[in-house]
Amino acid sequence: MQLLPNRSKIDDLLYADETKLIRTLSAKAQLSESDNSKVLTLATKLVQGLRDKRQHQGGIDAFMQEYSLSSEEGVVLMCLAEALLRIPDAATADRLIADKIGGRDWESHLGQSESLFVNASAWGLLLTGKFVTLDQTLSLDAFGFLKRLVRKSGEPILRNAMRQAMRIMGKQFVLAQNMGDALAIAQHSEMRGNRFSYDMLGESALTQADALIYFQSYQSALTALAGVKKHASVFANPSLSVKLSALYPRYEEKQAAAAIAHLSVSVEKLALQAKALNVGLTIDAEEVQRLDLSLELFGRLASSAQLQEWNGLGLAVQAYGKRALPVLEWLADVATLTNRVLPVRLVKGAYWDTEIKRAQEAGLQDYPVFTQKLCTDVSYLACANYLLARRDVFYPQFATHNAQTIAAVSVMAGDAQGFEFQRLHGMGQALYEDVVKHYPVRVYAPIGSHKDLLAYLVRRLLENGANTSFVNRIADDAAPIEAIVADPVAQVLKLKSCSNPKIAPPSELFSGRKNSAGVALWRSSERLPIVQDVERSFRDLIHAHAIIGGEVYADGPRRKIFSPADATFQIGEVAEASDSAVAAAMQSAAQ
Ligand code: FAD
Ligand code: 2OP
Repeated sequence: MQLLPNRSKIDDLLYADETKLIRTLSAKAQLSESDNSKVLTLATKLVQGLRDKRQHQGGIDAFMQEYSLSSEEGVVLMCLAEALLRIPDAATADRLIADKIGGRDWESHLGQSESLFVNASAWGLLLTGKFVTLDQTLSLDAFGFLKRLVRKSGEPILRNAMRQAMRIMGKQFVLAQNMGDALAIAQHSEMRGNRFSYDMLGESALTQADALIYFQSYQSALTALAGVKKHASVFANPSLSVKLSALYPRYEEKQAAAAIAHLSVSVEKLALQAKALNVGLTIDAEEVQRLDLSLELFGRLASSAQLQEWNGLGLAVQAYGKRALPVLEWLADVATLTNRVLPVRLVKGAYWDTEIKRAQEAGLQDYPVFTQKLCTDVSYLACANYLLARRDVFYPQFATHNAQTIAAVSVMAGDAQGFEFQRLHGMGQALYEDVVKHYPVRVYAPIGSHKDLLAYLVRRLLENGANTSFVNRIADDAAPIEAIVADPVAQVLKLKSCSNPKIAPPSELFSGRKNSAGVALWRSSERLPIVQDVERSFRDLIHAHAIIGGEVYADGPRRKIFSPADATFQIGEVAEASDSAVAAAMQSAAQ
């Protein structure tokens, strides 16, 4: 294997000062005055077109407008959906529902929107699946009756109803339940110029058996792609998007050696299959704590002898991460070293809420992601500029549903060569109807059943529901177009501090006391000193014995002590208290 470039520059930026970093990135994202005015014109045209089309549409954006995260019920919905994801047992899920649903003003949402979808989902939050299918005939009287029924029936009904509501919403985002149906649907869309990246739903495998099922579903998806008509260029062909957390249950730093050993084999198998078919394989970006591991794996795959002369190996990079730009610089070095062009999907990042929450909970030194939406936009543009300037080593794939971002990228690119745009199935369709006439557009298409959908769905709901997100703002007719298309670079340059004033640093969460300080054990520069200390403490056996009145009593029977983590590893020896030690203790206590 080739010696891979060092990643220390990436690590250095984990907790970078947001204001300083954004000043540097703004300079890299800034356009000339004439380019800025081109971006403004194009973005305005796209947004105006979207607003006109929206008059005739219902569906997810109407739902999101109704259940915006700025309403209390919207927040409750998100909390519940997220919590249901994590809670393994029904009893705890029910207690949470009782806590969150009680007394909320769900009724006020009924009849608020013309869209059937809104009402159906509102009912779904309260009622069983059976009632959801009847909702068109329900009146508020019926609602009162049903609410009483629900109150009588208790939380399990609500739990099922939540799941049913998630199922209704899930339909919006899933292309098909299986690859055969997906390919048939995609065929029509491909005729209109779209490309596809298929995503087999499933992530965060908990057991090896789950990971094997996900691996097999990726394998069969690739096998199905064998029958699809292809182009000579891998970039024009379909691709498969994979999540490493689906392929190994302990895809985490603490298990780095085992995870890399396992994933190198399984992902290489998939990559070889993709290479033989001349289709792409992109590794999705997941939580920031997994980034270093995925780069390690990616570097190994890129330098695998069997995967040479194939430009289909791709990676998603999250612009909300403070480390995004050095990641791209590192990837450029990898591409040069391994003599390939890398398809790199630039995203803003789908785990923002989780990252903020985790950094707070762990008491990290600072946030690894930006805390202001504008900063993520600026970082995205700086990264886009870099990718476009290095089209010798990258095939940039710009994944966004934001018209301002699309407009800025197309002006930066200058031409339509050597890159593509990407959107998620169920989102951005209207926006991209015009874009696809000028640029290649790929649709990220989730495939699978509802049981694997929840995590993906929660991310989509958070992204659509956040009132800072483009899709949410566009649905709000009160938001002026000028504000929606405003240049993020010009806006951050006006800020004195770029950190979000509403988000305290992890150490300052509580008034009156500091948060407990934690360690990012997933970061080698923080973990290794601790590991070394632990190893040092194991070098000599620990001897435990009684000390009474300052005197050592080590004359009792001796017993070896083994590590709780490894029953074969002796860490010390204890001398049990002898009769004379007990007598001395009694005497000492009586004095
Ligand atoms: P915008 O509304 O312009 O941006 C919303 C984004 O801004 C949020 O998602 C978040 O990233 C960021 N943001 C929101 N609030 C704040 C804040 N206060 N501070 C800082 N940043 C903030 N995501 C992944 O993580 N991994 C993937 O592999 C991945 N693959 C994707 C593939 C495709 C084809 C697409 C279209 C998206 C993919 N995504 C992935 C999801 C992607 O990250 C989100 O869709 C994207 O962030 C939304 O950005 P936008 O430009 O469409 O919308
Ligand atoms: C996600 O799973 C699309 O990869 C992105 O949220």
